[in-house]
Amino acid sequence: MANSPEGRLSVSMVEVADGQEAAFLTIAREFSVIMAKKNYGRTDIVRDESTANMFYAVRHWASASAAEACHADAEVGALTSRLYRIAKVTHLVNGVRRASAAGPLADDRRTRGSESDRRSGFDRRRADLGRPTGERRKGDRRLGPRRLRGRTGGIDLIAAARRARENADARFSNFKVGAALEAVDGSVIAGCNVENATYGLTICAERVAMFKAISEGHRAFTRIAIVADTPTPTPPCGACRQILWEFGGNLEVVLANLMREEARHQLKTLLPLPFDGRLLR
Ligand code: THU
Repeated sequence: MANSPEGRLSVSMVEVADGQEAAFLTIAREFSVIMAKKNYGRTDIVRDESTANMFYAVRHWASASAAEACHADAEVGALTSRLYRIAKVTHLVNGVRRASAAGPLADDRRTRGSESDRRSGFDRRRADLGRPTGERRKGDRRLGPRRLRGRTGGIDLIAAARRARENADARFSNFKVGAALEAVDGSVIAGCNVENATYGLTICAERVAMFKAISEGHRAFTRIAIVADTPTPTPPCGACRQILWEFGGNLEVVLANLMREEARHQLKTLLPLPFDGRLLR
């Protein structure tokens, strides 16, 4: 991975303790919000699909002084100490060289290895980041933050899934489904089911959302909302559980209908004993 044109890219490898993935993603999300709110820059969290509980935190600093301010930020410091309790953090690339750079999602206290050691994590990755290193691309069809905020100020993922459901092309089953996936940076990527005359090539809302997200460069996710017009919640089918697990890990799965939220599950309880890339090594 190359430095950003200004050389203001920092990358850390984060090995999250077993069972702490959700806690890590929460911290990462809070950190992204601070980065955006205080104009420090942007953080991308990249999940390493080939290694359990391994992530890369890629920070694109707005400027060298923004990086300095972020390192000195007390709110960031509090988040960093929460992070250190649940993860081992290794600093890989420091695009903003300072005398001592103990910063968010970064740990300069550890001795740096040789060049080959530092690159090994990336070399092991099967997929590269699809997302460009610049700002959000023009024409990205993500739902805007204002439209997504619920009354409590949080992202209204169910509303996004309900809106996506309206686009479902369910001409054979008349069973319309909408899904909305939340990425760690707060982006919402929605999908609906699309049927066709062969029936078998039909694709569910959940997989449409996940494949859209992957194709836009997202690599780490927190939740998915699934909406159908049924009194009892519509859970994801087996094929979707597999895809959601492989690309999203232990997501929170929120099931709702047109009236209300009906249930929440952790994906690992919906897909016990999963098959995934770890078994292929
Ligand atoms: N479907 C989904 O989109 N998601 C689900 O979780 C269950 C099923 C779609 C596939 C098909 O278009 C229709 O619902 C009936 O099975």
